[in-house]
Amino acid sequence: MLARRPVRLPVMPPYERHVFVCENLRDPADERGCCSAKGASEVRSRLRLLAKAEGLKGRVRINTAGCLDQCAYGVTIVVYPEAVWYGAVTVDDVEEIFRSHVLGGQPVERLRLAHMR
Ligand code: FES
Repeated sequence: MLARRPVRLPVMPPYERHVFVCENLRDPADERGCCSAKGASEVRSRLRLLAKAEGLKGRVRINTAGCLDQCAYGVTIVVYPEAVWYGAVTVDDVEEIFRSHVLGGQPVERLRLAHMR
């Protein structure tokens, strides 16, 4: 029988900003809609390109997320550690989010989901 070991909690990676972009895909007939149908992949790709261009590997992480349960407001993004939720993000909004929030630490108020503040 194996001896029990104490549970070790995972160590959080030292990202200065961790961005999750919902890329959930649903059947077009589903009335909830989905972020993928609203351009989520382009939003995530643009964020990654900007992070790479700034040399932020290891400091900023851009991840794909499943449904964040804000489908009516998609494309939905969450930025940590501030836990700021953005909705209806388009590829045209990405540079502003990146420069202001990811780099500068200032959330883009006009894109925040009001009910998630
Ligand atoms: S499909 Fe993106 S939040 Fe639900």
